[in-house]
Amino acid sequence: MDGLDTLKAKYLSAVAGASDESALEEVRLAALGKKGEISAMMAGLGKMDPDARKAAGASLNALKDEIDAALRARKAGLADAALDERLRTEWLDVTLPGRPRRTGTIHPVSQVMEELSAIFADMGFAVAEGPQVESDWYNFDALNIPPEHPARQEHDTFFMHRAAGDDRPPHVLRTHTSPVQIRAMMDKGAPIRVIAPGRVYRMDMDQTHTPMFHQVEGLAIDRDISMANLKWTLEEFCRAFFEVPSVELRFRASHFPFTEPSAEVDIRCSWEGGQLRIGEGDRWMEILGSGMVHPKVLRAAGVDPDEWQGFAFGMGIDRLAMLKYGIPDLRAFFESDLRWLRHYGFAALDMPNLPGGLSR
Ligand code: DAH
Repeated sequence: MDGLDTLKAKYLSAVAGASDESALEEVRLAALGKKGEISAMMAGLGKMDPDARKAAGASLNALKDEIDAALRARKAGLADAALDERLRTEWLDVTLPGRPRRTGTIHPVSQVMEELSAIFADMGFAVAEGPQVESDWYNFDALNIPPEHPARQEHDTFFMHRAAGDDRPPHVLRTHTSPVQIRAMMDKGAPIRVIAPGRVYRMDMDQTHTPMFHQVEGLAIDRDISMANLKWTLEEFCRAFFEVPSVELRFRASHFPFTEPSAEVDIRCSWEGGQLRIGEGDRWMEILGSGMVHPKVLRAAGVDPDEWQGFAFGMGIDRLAMLKYGIPDLRAFFESDLRWLRHYGFAALDMPNLPGGLSR
């Protein structure tokens, strides 16, 4: 049957030429689909006489099987080619070194707060907190800074908005962490040992001042606490914090309204080649203010000064971080520059503790 050979050549070449699965499906429909050419010829067999039908039927079936096999083979070939193409483009070199996932780092201020807490916890101090928007009574009056006191001017205070006609003293953004002393004593009474790290605010901005910065307050009240206890506590703290075998502190008489007597404390250091070393050299650097808590302050907080006494101190945390980690400009602390943070930051899972080393 000449006709069948022509059909066979036609469909086999169509199959070979189909470049994707949908072109191939069209070829299948044209030949073997319900209305396909070969199907139509099969349907015509019924009108033939039996002998002719037998011969034609066998040849048509053979043709149908051959085209069907060619369709399947081509289909498999196209799928293989598609897979090869994917494998060629979507490859991954598993021998390359792993790329670390981007993780955040701990800000030096947070790191120093954790270090402080670990050191003072070891000496029996709990951590206390207070609000950043503070009443002027807690921020000033209770700390023996009455309304006309010159210390109020020195604090460059930010005042909160007051409604028209409201003549109560406005709340302030706390200018120091000292009000937490009052809150802690009112809350827990005496004896008490707390530190209070946190944010404070003053209207000031240059290389060593930002309008928001951090302080840590310390307070220890008991029946017989003296300046000697203050000195030991601060020496112990500095030795642990700066991770040096010994430190030398110098107490200079000073004045704060909330302490009597008051002292500013300097630490011995050297500044050679721009490198700061704590515990050696012939320079002194001021690191904190301190003193024996004023009886008026105790009384304001509901603690009887005839029975209790103790010390307090306040330090700048940002400054401690700058000193310990050699950070020259305070403003960079608050610019949220990720490159800076990656340079100075600390691994998120390395919690500072005394046995493990504070700053590994
Ligand atoms: N509150 C003081 C300040 O911000 C620091 C300070 C000094 C705190 C002496 C104290 C202290 O507790 O006893 O400048």
